[in-house]
Amino acid sequence: MRVLSGIQPTGNLHLGNYLGAIRNWVRMQDEMDSESQCFFFLADMHSITVHEGREQRIRNVRDMAAALVAAGIDPDRSVLFNQARVPAHAELCWLLNGTARIGWLNRMTQFKDKVGKDREGASIGLFVYPVLQAADILLYNATHVPVGEDQKQHLELARDIATKFNTDFGVDLFTMPAPIIPKESARIMSLRDGTAKMSKSDPSDMSRINLTDDDDAIMQKVKKAKTDPEPLPETAEGLAGRAEASNLVGIFATLSGATPDAICADFAGKGFGAFKPALGELLVETLRPIRERFLQLRTDDAALDAILDKGAAKAASAAEPTLRAAYDAMGLMR
Ligand code: TYM
Repeated sequence: MRVLSGIQPTGNLHLGNYLGAIRNWVRMQDEMDSESQCFFFLADMHSITVHEGREQRIRNVRDMAAALVAAGIDPDRSVLFNQARVPAHAELCWLLNGTARIGWLNRMTQFKDKVGKDREGASIGLFVYPVLQAADILLYNATHVPVGEDQKQHLELARDIATKFNTDFGVDLFTMPAPIIPKESARIMSLRDGTAKMSKSDPSDMSRINLTDDDDAIMQKVKKAKTDPEPLPETAEGLAGRAEASNLVGIFATLSGATPDAICADFAGKGFGAFKPALGELLVETLRPIRERFLQLRTDDAALDAILDKGAAKAASAAEPTLRAAYDAMGLMR
């Protein structure tokens, strides 16, 4: 089993990232046997699709490394690195650009969502973004890729690219990666709009819970979260058509480990005035230890850089055989 996943180091780690992906990363790392390996990385090469100044970009990478370690990624057991330190990602991406089709990329919903009406003004990097993502995954022959629901289409593209490359060059080089998507928290929604996903790019900070939010801020955000005037139903079925209510019950269920049905049974007939403080408490208790570790880790840049350097060296040697075989399959002499 080869587990691999990445996160863009832009802005803060938020509850959507944590419940949709990072918790699963930590779980898979902790359950790993001696034959398996986990690779987790900061997708800083992907983050160039959003303009950022030099100093801020450097800070963002270190902060995201600190956040992942704080959340439970152990750099001694998992390979933790940033893409820019491992040039094999960019190299394989270029090779795969010969295999990926424009028509496939045109179908990517994230690209369409991000560019909106200004397609002509979007960077080429944003368009080929999923090819770099395919390179990230295929380089390590990842078998399991823990991600939130929004990355499912990119994973399918990686499989299409892998299949076409293997077929075109008559090799059995790339392994088919499978997405690992959590059941309850595959898509954590905005606290302000139950139809939009919680995201670091949402202009309203009230829409998301950040890892850096203190206890009061978390409570405030939960109390101000949009809901409806109906009481909680007896079963989760009664949440149909109630996007905001369903999101909050989903978050509660994920954090507590109980099913949405059990949560509804507990709060049946009660309004959100009773439910929200309990949810806020649960969030505060879950996030406080992570925040405290994060704030401490981010003060030591040298230690964070050392973790990323060590991770990059391991990643580069794990990637090298696949990269070499890809050049060779294509008849490119290195
Ligand atoms: P990114 O940085 O947007 O998000 C990191 C992870 O968090 C998940 N996620 C969510 N899950 C549930 N609810 C939400 N509201 C929510 N928001 C984010 C994402 O699904 C993701 O798993 N393209 C990727 C980074 C990447 C990558 C890779 C991932 C680059 N290469 C290779 C896997 C494998 C991204 O931008 O994730």
